[in-house]
Amino acid sequence: MAKNNIVQKELQLSEEEERIHKPRMNRRDWIKCNTDLWPLDLKQNAICKLKIEIEIDLWNELYNIAKVLEYKDVHKVLNICFWPECEATNILKEKFSVFGEDIDKYIVLRNQPYEFVYPHRDPVRGTSIYLPLGPRGSSYAPLEIYHNHMEYGLPENDEPTVWAWNTKCTHAVFNKSEPRFNIQASINMPYTTVFERYNAIFDI
Ligand SMILES: [Fe+2]
Repeated sequence: MAKNNIVQKELQLSEEEERIHKPRMNRRDWIKCNTDLWPLDLKQNAICKLKIEIEIDLWNELYNIAKVLEYKDVHKVLNICFWPECEATNILKEKFSVFGEDIDKYIVLRNQPYEFVYPHRDPVRGTSIYLPLGPRGSSYAPLEIYHNHMEYGLPENDEPTVWAWNTKCTHAVFNKSEPRFNIQASINMPYTTVFERYNAIFDI
């Protein structure tokens, strides 16, 4: 075998390059989570906050319930069950009743610690009505949604917020160290149709 002459040069980076290559270990450092800066186009086509108010007590109770439910492993990283019948879910159903018969399924989702839901688009449902439960704050890995060559994500989970989002937009979750719970209602209808039909509750 021919002898390889390998000569390495010392890596030298400019300040600018060092800044560019500095690792950002938190996903929210990469994606746009400040909803005040979200463009109208994103809200019309991909994800938008809804004018549905959830009281803190209800939010806490739903989170506590979600932690003790039995889930089916749809696949290793994503566990799902139907909403259980109880007072808290009855109250939530009442709040979601604005969507009437358009809701197809009421589900609770659990992501296992350190598991990733890689970028994909949902094959069946078109729109999800979505309430993050826990963990709270920055520990709640953002739902990431990619739209118009930009990466967006949910802000830190500090207050109960209901979102509508387009499951046909590429989305992903890179979970952190804790089990992650959210509650969803699926609508088998394109997001833009839901946006038009229920425009009054979209917080544009
Ligand atoms: Fe999905």
